[in-house]
Amino acid sequence: MFGAAGGLTAKPAAAAEAHVDNAFAGATLYVNPDYAANVRGSISRTSDPALRAKMEKVKRYPTAVWLDRIAAIHGGDANAGRKSLAAHLDQALAQKRPGKPITATFVVYDLPGRDCASLASNGELPLTEAGLHRYKNDYIDVIASVFKKPKYRKVRIATVVEPDSLPNLVTNTADPECALAKSSGIYTKAVQYALDKLHAVPNVYTYLDAAHSGWLGWDTNRAQAVQLYTEVAKGTAAGPRSVDGLVTNVSNYTPIEEPFLTDPDRTVGGGMVKSSKFYEWNPGFDESDFTRDLHRDLVAAGWPASTGMVVDTSRNGWGGPARPTAGSTSTELDTYVTESKVDRRAHRGLWCNVDGAGLGQPPRSAPSGFPDSHLDAFLWVKPPGESDGTGEDIPNDEGKAKDPMCDPAYTAPGAGDNKTGALPGAPLAGHWFHDQFSMLVRNAHPAVPASPKATAKETS
Ligand code: BGC
Repeated sequence: MFGAAGGLTAKPAAAAEAHVDNAFAGATLYVNPDYAANVRGSISRTSDPALRAKMEKVKRYPTAVWLDRIAAIHGGDANAGRKSLAAHLDQALAQKRPGKPITATFVVYDLPGRDCASLASNGELPLTEAGLHRYKNDYIDVIASVFKKPKYRKVRIATVVEPDSLPNLVTNTADPECALAKSSGIYTKAVQYALDKLHAVPNVYTYLDAAHSGWLGWDTNRAQAVQLYTEVAKGTAAGPRSVDGLVTNVSNYTPIEEPFLTDPDRTVGGGMVKSSKFYEWNPGFDESDFTRDLHRDLVAAGWPASTGMVVDTSRNGWGGPARPTAGSTSTELDTYVTESKVDRRAHRGLWCNVDGAGLGQPPRSAPSGFPDSHLDAFLWVKPPGESDGTGEDIPNDEGKAKDPMCDPAYTAPGAGDNKTGALPGAPLAGHWFHDQFSMLVRNAHPAVPASPKATAKETS
C-alpha cells in the first residue's frame, strides 16, 4: 500500500488506488487515437471489403505508445503531429469507464547509444555521460513529472523499459558499441534511473524488457540475463520491488506456442528437435516456455513470486496459408522442424519487417492456459504496421540509419546466412508501413473478426 499524497483536504486522494499485483487485471486497455488514425489511412487505401472490415476491428485495439524521443513527450509538430504524453493520459481518462480501472502502456525508449547492436533504431542521445545527463533530465524526469500529476492517479500507467537494452549487454558485447554500453555502465545507470523515477509513482508499473526465447532462451544466456537483471534491480532504491515484471518478444515475431513442437528433447531422425538447424540447441521454442523458465529462475534468484510476465503478441500469430495444421511426418530432423513450426522465419535472428508474419493474440489481461508462465497480459507493444526499419538511405532527424537486416537482398551472416526475409520498400523504423499492415491483418492468427461497423462510412 502506498500512502496518498497530501492535498488540500484531509481526505486521502479518493481516486488513488493501491499498487496492484497485475496492472492489467480487471482493467480496460487504452486505445491510442494516433494508432487508429494510421489504421484509418490504410483502410482508405484498401479496396477488399473483407480486409477493410478486419482493419476496422484492429483500429479499436489497444496498442502501446512509444516515447521514442524527447519530442514524443511533447507531441505536436516536432513529433509528426502525434499526441503529447499528457494528451494521451487525458484521453485515457476520457476512455475510463466508471468503476473500472484503465491501463495505458508507454514504452520508455530513448537510451543513450540506443540499439547498440543494430542501426535501424539508433536514437537521438549519444553513448556519453552528456547523453546520460540528457536522458535523466530532459527525458525521464519530464516523463515522471507528467505521470506524477494528481489528475492521472486514476490511470494505471504501465511502462515497458528500454527494449533490447539489457539483452544487448548479455549477448552482444562483441559489438564495440555494445561493449562500450556495458563498460561505461551507461545502459545500466540509465535503466536504474528510469526504474527509480517510475517506481516512485504509485500508479506506475514497470516492465523490464527481456528480449525473447530466440535470443535469451538458451540456459546459459538466460542464467546470465537473470544475473544481470538481478544486479540492476538490486542497484535501484527499492531493489527487485522496483520492477513489476518483465516483458518479452517486444517488436519480435516469436510465437506464444509452437503447437506441434512441444518437446525439445524429442528425437527425430537420430537428433533431438532442439539440435535442429532452426533451434540451434536452444530449448526455448516459444514465449510460453521462455516466460515460465524466466519466472522460475528470477524467483530462485530472490525476486518476488508476484513478478509478472507480459508478452508482445502484436506480430507473432503466423496465420495465413503457410501455417502448418499438423506436425510433420518426416523422419529427417530439419525437414520435420521446418514443416512443423508455425514460426515461418528461416532463422530466429531475423527481426526486420518479416515477410509472412501475422497479428497474434489480441491484447488482454491475465490470459489463461499458461499457468506456469505467470502472464500479466498479452499486449500489442509494437503497434502493428509500424516499420522495424529500412534498408534504404532515408534522411531523418531521429538518429535512425539504414540497416542491412531490413534489406531483402542482404544475406545475414548472423542469421545462418539466410536472406533477411524483410519486406521491400519499408520506411524508417516507427513510420507507417501500409503493405506490412495489410499483410499482418491478412495473416492474423487467430483471425481478426470483421467489425460490424465495417461497411459504415468512416466516422472516427
Ligand atoms: C522505432 C521507434 C518506434 C517503435 C514502434 C522502433 O523500432 O525505433 O521509433 O516508435 O519502433 O514502432
